[in-house]
Amino acid sequence: MKTEKTNLLVVHNASQILTLAGGPQRGPVLGELGLLENGAVAIQSGQILAVGDSSSLLAAYPDADRCDAGGNVVMPGFVDPHSHLVWAGDRADEFSLRLEGKPYMEILAAGGGILSTVRATRAASLAELVDESRLRAQVAFNYGTTTMEVKTGYGLTLESEIKQLEAILILNQEGPLELIPTFLGAHAVPPEFHDCPDDFVDLLCREMIPGVHAWWQTRVPDLPLPFVDVFCERGAFDLAQSRRILETAKDFGFPLKIHADEFENLGGAALAAELGAVSADHLVKTSLKDIEALAGSGTVAVSLPGTPFGLNEDEFTPTKTLITAGGLLALATDTNPGTSWCESMQFILALACRKMGLTPAQAIAASTINAAAAVGLQDRLGSIEPGKQADLLILNVNNYQQLGYRFGTNLVSIVIKRGRCFPVC
Ligand code: NIG
Ligand code: FE
Repeated sequence: MKTEKTNLLVVHNASQILTLAGGPQRGPVLGELGLLENGAVAIQSGQILAVGDSSSLLAAYPDADRCDAGGNVVMPGFVDPHSHLVWAGDRADEFSLRLEGKPYMEILAAGGGILSTVRATRAASLAELVDESRLRAQVAFNYGTTTMEVKTGYGLTLESEIKQLEAILILNQEGPLELIPTFLGAHAVPPEFHDCPDDFVDLLCREMIPGVHAWWQTRVPDLPLPFVDVFCERGAFDLAQSRRILETAKDFGFPLKIHADEFENLGGAALAAELGAVSADHLVKTSLKDIEALAGSGTVAVSLPGTPFGLNEDEFTPTKTLITAGGLLALATDTNPGTSWCESMQFILALACRKMGLTPAQAIAASTINAAAAVGLQDRLGSIEPGKQADLLILNVNNYQQLGYRFGTNLVSIVIKRGRCFPVC
């Protein structure tokens, strides 16, 4: 008879445990799942204690609480390394315009697009912003995302960008979804700088980046600095402006990200590699030379297939070229109200398999261990190994090959975050 609570949990009776052990998977090794049959995972105080076969772990920890995986797959929680989760309002009207043939960047140039969400987000109170974003965080979590990077970029003044950062901190504190913040003050040129975009770049470098740094040091001095990101694209920030913003951020000690080559090849991916950015994201129009620069660097290439799909376009990240060149590939949703309102990493896997030719195993590695590397957290997240945070999924299928193959429904039955079980209803 159990007399004492042990603080131990054993997840047992898994048909397959996808451990993803061994670190981020570069180039052609992508897709090594570290598969263990009839496995179990022992968890203590929110961390993975042991991974092994079911009967040995149940025998080793006889007093532990038990969670029966029911003969199904157990895998690491998805890490979604690129989202714009915190915004107000929606842009359903623009979707109809785009279906009639109006290009996304033309809508932005006319003061809509990102700028329409900027108006709604500036007008929203912090509480409204948190409430709207919480609903999306819950969807992402139920679909198996246990950690999500979230960008600002719908404020474009220091004050309203800080309101977005505050919303991210509040939602992260509430949990269970863990959020990794990014300052994307360089998302678009705000209307007040329409005729003098370089003045906005000045403001970013002289006031906003230093201001975010100072605010962060006072508000959450013990947390690592957020990432700084730039939308490097014609109609947003050109290569020289992007370089200036990222170099300024780097001088302040911020880790870097970039939106590169979503519509045109401006050289943002090579810039990311040169500056030691943690990731370069989108990469649809990236030249072979820039792919090679990226592949030869430590920068993770994050592909967002929900975006061309959401824009109804035919071109996707050339992932085969990237993998052959030895690059480190991750997948993300890009959840945002303009191009990809999709909180589900499972759907992104389905797109990656069809539109970019990944196998389910490759897509799983790109959305767990490699996605953790895209937010610099590969030592804590993204695999099932002793010492790592206990962020796991129990699926309702007994073979991992169902992921990517099936789409539009939820294959997750229990999400485990820091060792706590959350059944998906
Ligand atoms: O990653 N391209 C820039 N940013 C987002 C879209 C944001 C929006 O349209 O609201 C993206 O696709
Ligand atoms: Fe984005």
